Amino acid sequence: MVTEPAPVAVPETAPETAPETALKTALETALETAPETGARSDAAEDARIRRTVATLRVEDVLLLARKIDRRHALWPKSLNLWREEPWSDDLRRIVDVSGYTFSVFSMTPATIAAVTRIAGIIGARSVLELGAGVSTLALAQDLTDRCGSDWSLVSIDEDADYADLIAGMCATLSVPSRYSVLGARTAPAEAFDISTRCYDRRDVLPFAGAYAPYDMLVIDGPKAGAEPGHPFARLPTVPVFRPFLRDDAVIVLDDVFRDTELTAIVHWIRNGHVRPLGISPVGKGLFVGRLRTPPATVPDDS
Ligand SMILES: C[S@@+](CC[C@H](N)C(=O)[O-])C[C@H]1O[C@@H](n2cnc3c(N)ncnc32)[C@H](O)[C@@H]1O
Repeated sequence: MVTEPAPVAVPETAPETAPETALKTALETALETAPETGARSDAAEDARIRRTVATLRVEDVLLLARKIDRRHALWPKSLNLWREEPWSDDLRRIVDVSGYTFSVFSMTPATIAAVTRIAGIIGARSVLELGAGVSTLALAQDLTDRCGSDWSLVSIDEDADYADLIAGMCATLSVPSRYSVLGARTAPAEAFDISTRCYDRRDVLPFAGAYAPYDMLVIDGPKAGAEPGHPFARLPTVPVFRPFLRDDAVIVLDDVFRDTELTAIVHWIRNGHVRPLGISPVGKGLFVGRLRTPPATVPDDS
């Protein structure tokens, strides 16, 4: 029997407001063109994701961060985790073949394993990724291994040269050309009353829409940590990209052991965009949830 976790205790600081007008306009425009999809909620899949990957409850992580009461309390001391975590044979081969070099910006090997595991559990065939890199290579390989040539992967990155570099690396793998890596500028953005920068909607919405709907949204960009990143840069991503996701699409967010990303998931949950499944204690912290369709006013069954 599947036991649902208790409702998430959301900090009082989470505002009650809906996304701002600009985002709403983008959402409405995009909704007009997004295809209709049926609900595909699967309790057994959710239970498996919780049991094998997203093993921490969001409310427990929030409580822990509050108890420690220090900025980025849960953030790992060393970001050279790619040296410390175990690598799968697949990841080793991908890196050897493509020539990819890990950096502090990379998803860690354990995080990549968690993301591809989730993709396998839900049988994802179409993935939208924000923030390209080794995760793009691993997703392209995983999709090929599971789905042959029947898949699509769209990755968006704020650095056009880096997007081209990763696209070139994808081409060195034994995968069909079912991937696109797009360089997109960032522009001022606002979500849940917070001003930040995010991908320029004029760049990304037409592109993302061309391959919708997606089974999974993997958020590891825009850069949100130290300069030149913008705190809360990932906050607008769910309201902006949700029209391109399937009902109940799985959403993962990396770096949730950083306060800004932890706050982002609180806003998404509190404003009814996302139903949390949990947090995976890998790398820099990986949140896993499902899109709520339509957005719920009160997150009463999370
Ligand atoms: C937001 S991160 C996403 C990482 C990706 N998901 C992965 O697993 O590798 C990608 C950004 O990091 C930046 N980046 C990657 N490697 C870098 C490096 N060695 N030095 C500076 N910036 C780097 C790129 O410019 C790119 O815009």
